[in-house]
Parts: sequence; structure tokens; C-alpha cells
Amino acid sequence: MTLAAVILAAGKGTRMKSELPKVLHPLGGQPMLGHVLDTLAACRVEKVVVVAGHGLEQVAAYVDGRAQVVCQEQQLGTAHALLMAESALEGYAGDILVLCGDTPLLRPGTLEQLVREHRRQQAAATVLTAQLADPTGYGRVIREADGRVSRIVEQKDATADELAVKEINTGLYCLRSTGLFAALKEIRPQNAQGEYYLTDIIGLYVGRGERVAALTCADPAEVAGINDRWQLAQAERVFRLRHLEELAKSGVTVLDPEHTYIEVDVTVGPDTVLLPGTYLARGTRIGCGCTIGPHTYLRAAELGDGVQVRFSVVEESRLESGCTVGPFAYIRPGCYLAEQVKVGDFVELKKATVGPGSKIPHLSYIGDATLGSSVNIGAGTITCNYDGKNKWPTVVEDGAFIGSNTNLVAPVTVGAGAVTGAGSTITKDVPAGALAVERAKQKIVPDWKKKGGQGGE
Ligand code: UD1
Ligand code: CA
Repeated sequence: MTLAAVILAAGKGTRMKSELPKVLHPLGGQPMLGHVLDTLAACRVEKVVVVAGHGLEQVAAYVDGRAQVVCQEQQLGTAHALLMAESALEGYAGDILVLCGDTPLLRPGTLEQLVREHRRQQAAATVLTAQLADPTGYGRVIREADGRVSRIVEQKDATADELAVKEINTGLYCLRSTGLFAALKEIRPQNAQGEYYLTDIIGLYVGRGERVAALTCADPAEVAGINDRWQLAQAERVFRLRHLEELAKSGVTVLDPEHTYIEVDVTVGPDTVLLPGTYLARGTRIGCGCTIGPHTYLRAAELGDGVQVRFSVVEESRLESGCTVGPFAYIRPGCYLAEQVKVGDFVELKKATVGPGSKIPHLSYIGDATLGSSVNIGAGTITCNYDGKNKWPTVVEDGAFIGSNTNLVAPVTVGAGAVTGAGSTITKDVPAGALAVERAKQKIVPDWKKKGGQGGE
């Protein structure tokens, strides 16, 4: 039997109080909708339809062909939303998973269980439920005395007794396609919100004697629906702890999981230590035996093995094994640090390639530069790479020694093994092995104070 899925994602998400469509709000650095699409991809669902409405163009641009996007122009309710997928699923005969775009923590295994249960029971509809200590806001699952599900009632339509029920509707269903759309058309908006509720399909099927099943999700955290930003914050915490737990179990030391932040697609090798205040944003890959943090932000950073980064920021750059960075360094996009490079305190690098074993220990700006191996950059060195219009390159060849407080006015090349005197402003290329000094000769005026001199000359 085949499997299709419909993701309901047309709602405005009024409670988010945002210009951005709700399902595009990021969780772990990736839009919520992306999480749902990933989960379906892991289940090898063959056809996925996304029902979009609010921010349709933005949602469609994000989906970018991963699913068919259909439009629900007016958000008349979840049943109406599912109905919008009818033509996209024309001719399809099989089971249909219905998911909400605002339930991003769902695991593939849970969906597979839902489908298995649905097929085992040969049900027309199977709803995924959960037991919550605080069910406020969710639809409640009403069961007969014998335990069979009879209907779902929304919070706003529930009686006091019904509100006391702790078993909630997760908004996830597996539905048999046969007769589904005909049944949806029978649903009427007779409720507190005047909406076409998809939840009514349960009562409708039960009334007709169709088989309705329910599966209770073991981990309620998985099915949390995100309606406002506080719920999003709680979900972010669940997501990150889940990811950190996986890392910890694969050999990463996470000193304080409550103060370590991580986004999707981040990988970390065993024996790496993540210290508090570390934020690992998307695209970051860390090797083995590294020490990251405390208080470090890495985005799209690729680190080899044994790299140390303390109190620093690294973005869109690659650091080979054995590099040390920080404290208080800023490595901006486009940098490549070969093995054993040292970048010390208050150093900013941008589009810089640094050869093996080179050192930039303190207080420097190195931009649009290529440094060879075993180069030493003195404290306070600045590449003057920008003339107000264009950016120019600086080249420092192998083994060159740049004196403290040197200005390298680009375009300029310092040859292999060359030396620049401290405080020099280098505007012309320095040949290999040469010394370049550019500064006024020091003058001494004896007895300056006695002669009544003040301040500078
Ligand atoms: C819904 C369920 C509720 C369940 C909860 C689980 C209904 C009537 N209620 O309530 O039983 O406990 O989810 O999280 O189904 N949407 C559309 N078009 C619409 C309306 C909604 O696409 O016209 C989409 C939304 O974008 C959202 C999803 O459907 O992704 C659920 O809608 P939402 O308004 O969040 O429903 P809840 O009140 O949370
Ligand atoms: Ca919801």
C-alpha cells in the first residue's frame, strides 16, 4: 500500500504576532516546516502536499519543489484546508498522513508506528493522541466506556467534564483516502469558532460505523503544537537537548546542556568538549578532541581535530587540526587556517588564508590576505585593505616577521623571510629576506621640562 502526506500550513499563526508565516519560524535554525518535511522524507512518503495560504509565496519558495504546494485562500478551518489537497491527490488510492506544519518535533518512528497501527486495525481513520499533564488549548479525545474513541472536542467547545480529559488530539492522523474527501464535504462549521474542523471527521466516521483507531504517543514532547513564541521557546529547548543527548551518547562532553545551543545539521566528533555558552549554528562541523567555548559562536565553521576556540566567533571558515583561537577573536567568512595556526586575543580575520604554524597572537586586523607558513604577525598589525572604493590583497610569504604595529597598505607583498620594523607603514613590496622600516627617526631634546616645554612638540 502506498503512502501520501498532507501538511496543513495555511494558518496565519495569529498568536505568533509576526509578519513571518508561522511555519517558517525557525526551530534549531531551520523553519518548522522543514522539520516536518525532513520527517516525511525519512519515512519515504512518496507524495507530499503542503496546504499554504498566509505567506503562500514565501512558503512555496521555501518548499522549493520538495512537495506540491496548494493554496487555501481563506483559512476556514483544518477540514477545509485538507479539502484543498483533493485535486493534488486525485487518482491516489492509499493512506494519507495528515500533519500540521506547526508540530516540528515529531520523530519518523512515531509516524511509522501510526501507519502500522492504522493498517493493523484496518481503520478508516487513526488519530495520534498524547497524555498531557496540562492539556490546555488542545482538542480532547473523548472515548466510550469501552475505550473506543467516539469524537474529538476542541477546547473552545468543550464542557467542564471534557476539559478535564488529559488525552489530547495531536492533530496528526492517518486516513484512508477512499471516501475521505466526500466525508470532509459533509463537515459543517457548527462550533464556537465557526470553522470547518478536521477533528469532526472522527465523530462522523464513528457515527457511520466506520473503524476509527487511536495511537497514544509515548513522548508527549514530540507532538507539541507551536502556536506562540513561548511554545516555540519550549520546543527549541526540547530540540536542543535531544540533539545534545545524541552527541553526548556518541562521545562528546557537554558540560552544561542547559547553556549549550545547537542547530540542525551540526556534527561534533568524539572527545570534543563543549563548554557553557557555546552556540553551534547551522553548517558547523567539528572534529575530534576539540575544546569549544566557553562563550563561543560558530556558524558554518568547519574544524579539524584538536582545535581550541575560546570566547570567540567563527563564521563560514575552515580551521584545520591543531589551531587555537581566542580569547576574543572574530573570524569572519572566507577564512582558511591551515594546521597549527594560532589566532590570539582581539584579532579579526576576514577572507584570510593562513599557512601552517603561522601566528597572529594579538590585536590585529587581517583582511583579504594570504599568509604563508610560519609567519609571525606582531601585535597591532593592520592590513589596510580598503581605499574607500576597492578591497586590495595583502600577501605575506613563508617565514616573514611583521613587526608590531605595522600597517600593510594593500596591494602589497612581503617576501619570504622578510622583516618589517615595528610601527612601519608598508606601502611598497618588500623583497624576500629584506628588512623594511618606515618611520621618522627618534629625536631627543634634552632638559625639555627645565626649558619650560609642555606636552608634545
Ligand atoms: C488543532 C486541532 C486540535 C489539536 C491541535 C494540535 C482542529 C480543529 N484542531 O488545533 O484538535 O489538538 O491542532 O496541535 O483541527 N490550518 C490551515 N488552514 C486553516 C486552519 C489551520 O492550514 O484554515 C493549519 C495551521 O496552519 C496549522 C494547523 O492547520 O499548521 C493547525 O491549525 P491551528 O489553528 O494551529 O489549530 P489548533 O487550534 O492548534
Ligand atoms: Ca496548532
